[in-house]
Amino acid sequence: MKFFIDTANLQEITQASAWGLIDGVTTNPSLLAKEGKQDSRELFRDICALVDGPVSAEVIALDAKGMLREARELAKIADNIVIKLPLTLEGLQATKALCSEGIMTNVTLCFSANQALLAAKAGATYISPFVGRLDDIAAGGLELVSQIRTIYDNYDFATQIIVASVRSPLHVLDSALIGADIATIPFKVLSQLVQHPLTDRGIDAFLADWQKTNQ
Ligand code: E4P
Repeated sequence: MKFFIDTANLQEITQASAWGLIDGVTTNPSLLAKEGKQDSRELFRDICALVDGPVSAEVIALDAKGMLREARELAKIADNIVIKLPLTLEGLQATKALCSEGIMTNVTLCFSANQALLAAKAGATYISPFVGRLDDIAAGGLELVSQIRTIYDNYDFATQIIVASVRSPLHVLDSALIGADIATIPFKVLSQLVQHPLTDRGIDAFLADWQKTNQ
């Protein structure tokens, strides 16, 4: 299973890369806004240089023509740019066109299995079901990931599932058990994955015993 980091923060990306834990990055307009006013193209260029893996950059236009215009410009930034498009009919139309041009796509804001089926038929490289936002409305985000896994396996679709809107280590664990290809994880949750009180207690006990040896 691959891990992407869900952030546009360069420090977080640098730290997670140093840990050797991440295979790519996802961003969205809200994550970019958190980084304050700056040239987003510059920021994408910096992120792409830091990470040896796909970096998702989202289009803002709502019509296919506008999305394609933006996508082609974003794709020029670096070879590892993935164009993120919303799961609408216009977004699917643009996805299909980008697929035929060999540009990688990440279809985002997926909340149903039928939407994911359409994205795969459009040739999306990645589909992003938002588990946390579904859980927020008591709709069962992980159940959606499981349905998408079944459908993609039934028809051998090559579209990879990125579990998005991850809020906790349990989301990551359940995604791995379902067989999702990727989880895109916020920095805080990535840091939480390693934590276990018995590990900390074990280290303390080993160090205390070591000191008794007077070495
Ligand atoms: C990533 O591709 C998504 O944009 C992101 O995971 C959404 O997360 P949120 O629901 O916490 O905003």
